[in-house]
Amino acid sequence: MKKLFADNIVTAIDVGTTKICVLIGQQLSEGSVEILGIGKVPSEGLRKGVVVDMAKTIRSIKDAVEEAQLMANVRIESAVVGVSGSHIQSRNVYGAVPIGKKGVTQEDIANVIANAKAVPLQEGQQVLHVLPRYFSIDGQERVQDPLGMFGVRLEAQIHMITGSVTSVHNLVSCCEQAGILVQDVILEQLASAKAVLNDDERDLGVGMIDIGGGTTDLAIYQRGTICHTKVIPVAGNHFTNDLAIGLRITTKDAERIKRDYGLANSRLLENDSIIEGELIQGEIMRTIHMKDITEILEARSQELLSLVHEEILTHHLSHVLVSGLVITGGGSMLEGLKEVAEDICGVPVRIGRPRILHNDPEILSNPIYATGYGLLLLAGDKGRSSGLFNDDQKGVTRLLMRMKSWVSDFF
Ligand SMILES: Nc1ncnc2c1ncn2[C@@H]1O[C@H](COP(=O)(O)OP(=O)(O)OP(=O)(O)O)[C@@H](O)[C@H]1O
Ligand SMILES: [Mg+2]
Repeated sequence: MKKLFADNIVTAIDVGTTKICVLIGQQLSEGSVEILGIGKVPSEGLRKGVVVDMAKTIRSIKDAVEEAQLMANVRIESAVVGVSGSHIQSRNVYGAVPIGKKGVTQEDIANVIANAKAVPLQEGQQVLHVLPRYFSIDGQERVQDPLGMFGVRLEAQIHMITGSVTSVHNLVSCCEQAGILVQDVILEQLASAKAVLNDDERDLGVGMIDIGGGTTDLAIYQRGTICHTKVIPVAGNHFTNDLAIGLRITTKDAERIKRDYGLANSRLLENDSIIEGELIQGEIMRTIHMKDITEILEARSQELLSLVHEEILTHHLSHVLVSGLVITGGGSMLEGLKEVAEDICGVPVRIGRPRILHNDPEILSNPIYATGYGLLLLAGDKGRSSGLFNDDQKGVTRLLMRMKSWVSDFF
C-alpha cells in the first residue's frame, strides 16, 4: 500500500450510533477535499451517541479504517473524530479585558477569550470548543477581528461547548486502540453544519438539525457564527423501535419497513394500502396496513420536532431562523419529515445534502455522510492536520490536556 504525503491527506472518523464511517480525503484547495476512500460498517457499541461497548467499537473502527484504506490505497495513522451524546452541554459566555495604548494585541484577544471561558464547569465536564462569536470595543458595534483596534475595553462573546471527560476519553481511546491517533475531537453538529449549510444561510440565521440513529443534533447560526447547540437523545432508532413495538415485528423488519414505506405525515397517505407477504417472522407471514405505519411514525416525528421547537422557543431563537431549518442525517430521509418540521416550527425547511466530491451517486449527496464529510472539511481547513500535534506527549492524555485550552479556529 503506497503512502501519500501526509500533508494533503485528511481523515475523518464519524463514530455514529448506527454506522462507523471513515473518510479519507485529499485536500485540493481551501474548502475542497476529494474523497479517496470510504469505509462504512455497522456500529454496535454505541447507545445514543455514546460508546457503551469499547471492544465492539474498536472492532468496527478497525474494519471501517481497513475498508477506507483499501479503497484509497493509503495507510492512515491519524484522524479527526466526531463526538455527540446527551453529555454535551453548551452556553454563551462573556469576557472583558482592558486595552493598552498600542491597541488590541494578539495577547489581549487570547486573554479576553481566557477570561470568558473562566467559568465553573459541572463536575466531570471538559471544554471541547471555545468558539468566538464576536468581539466589541467599549460596547460599540460587533467586530469579528479586533486586532489593532483602539479603545479602553475589549469584550468577547463566546459559545462554549463542553462534554463528559469519560465519554470523550472512551471515544478517543477506542480510536487509539484501533491504531488511529486522534488529532482532534469535534462536535458532530459543527461538522454536519459545515457540510450542508452555506454562508448566506449562516449570515442570515439558520438552524441545522442532524437526525441520526441515536441523537438529534441541533446547531443554530446567526450573523455567520454559532449561537446555540443542543443534543437531543431521540432519533431514527426510536422511530424503528416504535414500529417494532407497535406492529409487533422484529427491529430488522421495522427498519426495512420504515425505509421502504415510512411516511412521517398522514397527509401523504393517499389510501390505506396493505403491505403483504414481505415480513417473515419465523414462518409467519404478516399483513400490515400503511395507515398503522404512518400513524406510528407521524406521532414520533411530531414529538421529535416538538422537542426541537421547544428548544428554539426556550432560548428565544425563533427570530434568528430567517433562512429556516436544514435537516440532515439518515433520519432526514424519512418521507414527509420535512413537512412535519415546517408545520411544527413554522419556518421553511430543506434537506441538507453534503456536496461530496465523489463519482458514486449513492455517496454524492447522501445525508448520512454529512457529519463525516464535514469533519473532513474541517480537518482540511485546519490544514496541516498532521501537524496539529507536534509535541512529545502521546495519546489520550495529550489530547485531553490540549482540550483544556482549545480555542477552535474554524469559524
Ligand atoms: N430512507 C430512510 N428513511 C428513514 N430513515 C432512514 C432512511 N435511511 C436511514 N434512515 C435512518 O437514519 C438513521 C441513521 O442515520 P445516521 O447514519 O445519520 O446515524 P448515525 O450517525 O449512525 O447516528 P448518530 O449520529 O445518532 O450517532 C437510522 O435510524 C436509519 O433508520
Ligand atoms: Mg451521526
